[in-house]
Amino acid sequence: MIPSPPGLPLLGNTLQVPAHSPAAYFDELAARYDEGLFKLTLLGKDVLFVYDPDLVAELCDESRFYKGIEPPLSFLRDLAGDGLFTARHDEPAWGHAHRILMPAFSQRSMRAYFPQMLEVAEQLIESWAGRQGEDLPVPDDMTRLTLDTISLTGFGYRFRSFDQPELHPFLQAMGGALTEAMVRLRQPSVVTKMLRKREEGFQRDIQTMRALVEEVIRQRAAQPSGASDLLGLMLEASDPRTGERLTDANIRDQVITFLIAGHETTSGLLSFALYNLLRDPHTLARAYAEVDALLPGDEPPAYEAIMKLDVVARVLEETLRVWSPIPAFSVTAFSDTTIGRFPVRAGQPAVVVLPSLHLHPKAWERPEEFDIDRWLPENRKSHHKAAYKPFGNGERACIGRQFALTEARLALAMILRRFAVADPTAYKMRTKQMLTLKPDGFTVRVRDRKPHE
Ligand code: HEM
Repeated sequence: MIPSPPGLPLLGNTLQVPAHSPAAYFDELAARYDEGLFKLTLLGKDVLFVYDPDLVAELCDESRFYKGIEPPLSFLRDLAGDGLFTARHDEPAWGHAHRILMPAFSQRSMRAYFPQMLEVAEQLIESWAGRQGEDLPVPDDMTRLTLDTISLTGFGYRFRSFDQPELHPFLQAMGGALTEAMVRLRQPSVVTKMLRKREEGFQRDIQTMRALVEEVIRQRAAQPSGASDLLGLMLEASDPRTGERLTDANIRDQVITFLIAGHETTSGLLSFALYNLLRDPHTLARAYAEVDALLPGDEPPAYEAIMKLDVVARVLEETLRVWSPIPAFSVTAFSDTTIGRFPVRAGQPAVVVLPSLHLHPKAWERPEEFDIDRWLPENRKSHHKAAYKPFGNGERACIGRQFALTEARLALAMILRRFAVADPTAYKMRTKQMLTLKPDGFTVRVRDRKPHE
């Protein structure tokens, strides 16, 4: 028997999922059930939530499970259409875009993007240097950094977020749309249809985002740069397998997809990484020592030096285990099957609950402890193969993984090279979820580690 909390007639467990913190609720249930999975009836469907590493290993078998576009991703189709993140597995658009864009995420491309990544990271450092002693809003500033980085490297577009006291209207609209998608998780569709004002607000947010994206594409069309960035590839390249080009509507959906997927998560990763470092002075000292050794002086760091960082890289890997910015992803069974001794029906969605998987005692010793030495080469060998999935699984895993890790290494190293970071308010973790997780209200103070002009 698959455990399940009691629900209501017709509505099942739909109303029990809190609109603003579903991930915390799923973790709470995971702690309640030892079977490694539980079932909720949501919007009329029986959905499995799975966190036992052996059961997750079965869900990662792509011959039996595919990425189904279930709520809340299905609600995001209104804004991201058949862009890579929300494309259905049988939609040809996914294969066209995947094959066209893969070269843009090779290691060679990361080297090519590095000057732009550096330009934006330097803006963060300059901004913080001018605000020493103030409480710096970490998630907001990391969002400025990551949004400006993906838009500049991917599309040659400058948001100039560090020049603005408020976050860009694109982000306000995105926040509205993502929050609405989460609210709809617990809302029967008849209710959604009745709430006209909310639907209008949702559509307005989508229009705000589309208007910005159309402006980004228009600027490029007006001044073709020949750049082989994401936008250049989408406008010029054709699918190497079929010869097909992406349609204009699909390019717009991909730009929205990359603007969202390409910044929210990396912003969360950097915020959680700083939080972890501040709670672990020994690791923080090792990270300072590493950046002093590999990035001496004030010169802009070289790509090669950033790639040599080891402590900083392991801080990021361990942060993704302890605080995964995307707390869940979902797969669907092709046909009736089982995971362990539990039956799964054809078409039934199964959600991998990452926080509970990443802290599962079957896979991790001292799971709650932040320990970057888990990621030493000799210790990796003993990791359970399915117990760490911050970037998802298989062919639908994150295409931007290297991009995120390169950008995050660079930013974290530059922060630690320049500043002593402190947390005088002893922030207590309080996550905020807008599909992805971030530490809500987390601030730090910085001061120069060495005298600067
Ligand atoms: C997919 C996590 C950064 C673009 C995914 C998925 C996860 C994930 C878990 C799979 C979702 C699913 O199965 O439904 C992360 C994390 C990041 C990160 C933790 C940062 C720490 C990025 C960046 C980009 C990006 C920087 C773009 C530059 C995408 C795209 C997909 C995706 C386009 C959909 C891929 C496909 O289905 O073909 N990401 N991501 N992500 N990610 Fe990321």
